[in-house]
Amino acid sequence: MHSKKKLIAGNWKMNGNLTANKSLLTAVVDGLNQAQCDVAVAVPAPYLAQVERLVSGSAIAVAAQDVSVHESGAYTGEVSASMLKEFGVRYVLVGHSERRQYHGESDVVVSRKAQRALAAGITPIVCVGETLQEFEAGDTEAVVKRQLAAVIHLNGHCISEIVVAYEPVWAVGTGRTASPEQAQAVHAVLRTQVAAASEHPDRIRLLYGGSMNAANAAQLLAQPDVDGGLIGGASLKAADFLQIIHAAR
Ligand code: 13P
Repeated sequence: MHSKKKLIAGNWKMNGNLTANKSLLTAVVDGLNQAQCDVAVAVPAPYLAQVERLVSGSAIAVAAQDVSVHESGAYTGEVSASMLKEFGVRYVLVGHSERRQYHGESDVVVSRKAQRALAAGITPIVCVGETLQEFEAGDTEAVVKRQLAAVIHLNGHCISEIVVAYEPVWAVGTGRTASPEQAQAVHAVLRTQVAAASEHPDRIRLLYGGSMNAANAAQLLAQPDVDGGLIGGASLKAADFLQIIHAAR
């Protein structure tokens, strides 16, 4: 077991509106009580200011879902790390499988995004995970190691400051979750890999994501190398998200 606090991060993806965000976060803040874990919500960029206000004074941290590889300039539509920082953003997802899949983000792009976040003082949550095809071919380990190696290669000196999220693509939004044993096996591989590159391996948290819900969270979170969760659909329902938060201890 690792002594660090677990991290439960909600990823709203492209969901929400001003009214729904307010009622969701009011309910989550109300139900937090003495949560034993760290909590964050990754929200669409236009809602960062609203969410920063709604969670201020609570234990919930604000996260963004993406960040530009560029520092500033003529990059229409992009949002820089320093802009996120101005809105109190503590974490940013980089390399989510939906970004890799639908926006063609390569391992190198993901590594550069992590670098931008770190330079701005924002913790990147680096997402790795294999597709169904890669899973069925037995390539899981090779794929996640390659994805993480790129991030380590570019950010080795501050690798202890990252969070890693293992999200098997076949489990994202499918209702099909990795078994606790499958998750633990991949996390153990990732642990060995980051530990070899880090001066403070104990700080690094490894999250599991992919159809984590109120019913399966406790078992996944009980695995020795699962230090938290990255929650999609279930983070949009206050009761479910709270149940996951309270399962993390
Ligand atoms: P679901 O929890 O909806 O499967 O999404 C997982 C995810 O992609 C979190 O980033």
